[in-house]
Amino acid sequence: MILNRPVRLLYFSPTGTTRKILEKIAEGIGEDQPEHIDLTSPEARMGQHSRIKRGLTIIGVPVYTGRVALEAIRGLGQFKATDAPAIVVVVYGNREYEDALLELQNITVEAGFTPIAGAAFIGEHSLSTKDVPVAHGRPDSEDLDCAAAFGVLVNEKLTKTDSLSSVSPLKIPGNFPYRERGPARHVSPDSDDSTCTRCEKCREVCPTAAITLVEGYIQTEKNKCILCCACVKSCPYGARHLNDPQLRQFIQQLSITCSMRKDPEFYL
Ligand SMILES: Cc1cc2nc3c(=O)[nH]c(=O)nc-3n(C[C@H](O)[C@H](O)[C@H](O)COP(=O)(O)O)c2cc1C
Ligand code: SF4
Ligand code: SF4
Repeated sequence: MILNRPVRLLYFSPTGTTRKILEKIAEGIGEDQPEHIDLTSPEARMGQHSRIKRGLTIIGVPVYTGRVALEAIRGLGQFKATDAPAIVVVVYGNREYEDALLELQNITVEAGFTPIAGAAFIGEHSLSTKDVPVAHGRPDSEDLDCAAAFGVLVNEKLTKTDSLSSVSPLKIPGNFPYRERGPARHVSPDSDDSTCTRCEKCREVCPTAAITLVEGYIQTEKNKCILCCACVKSCPYGARHLNDPQLRQFIQQLSITCSMRKDPEFYL
């Protein structure tokens, strides 16, 4: 049996869907209060190096353009592991996850972890709104039940496995070289000055410190924005919007082409 305590969650999750799924997986494993290593804030990715030894690490990242989000790669690069089993999880917005799970597996192996299971789950698309929904409201209760069930399966595998050296490589789909990420867009959501109360919630949640309050106005540095939409979803006054016409058209299309519900996939 491979020891599965402590259980720690290691994640980048601007809009919280990845974190929610990891918590449910931990519950399925029997751990209601896992340790959290949250790489979402800019400070958490400042380059403090840590070593992870033993225990079970559940690593989760959102899929951005079919790849692991770049900020997550930077955050994960701070860790080296020894004698450490890991579960690798990607969360995507009901389009595709393409090379992301393979990439995450390779990143964790390079860091010294031994991946013992992998999964792809679905979360509300970052750009989804009530009016133009893409996987809106996911993970829902069905997804969360699935996450807990996956945790149970992982636990069974850990119980049956004698040592990390006997774990076979996972058969995870994807291609290497990985797909191109696509060009940077240099666009961002903006605040509507007439409804914005300058509460600064958006600034607090921005994972790249792209938002500042300057002379009483919220400003966004477009070349820092990763379009995670944490600011849009957390604004208590609905004052932040993505107004870029091309992106609006893109999400309209996604809302149509990705309307068929996809289900979580497990690799054990
Ligand atoms: C820049 C960007 C690119 C994305 N690319 C994809 C993608 O390729 N496929 C997909 O299904 N969802 C994609 N998404 C949606 C996210 O993967 C999804 O919303 C995820 O649940 C966000 O995780 P979080 O809540 O932990 O931040 C993308 C989101 C952003 C912001
Ligand atoms: S969260 Fe909304 S109301 Fe608060 S400062 Fe940002 S845009 Fe303005
Ligand atoms: S400004 Fe950009 S990076 Fe910052 S929270 Fe908003 S969408 Fe995300």
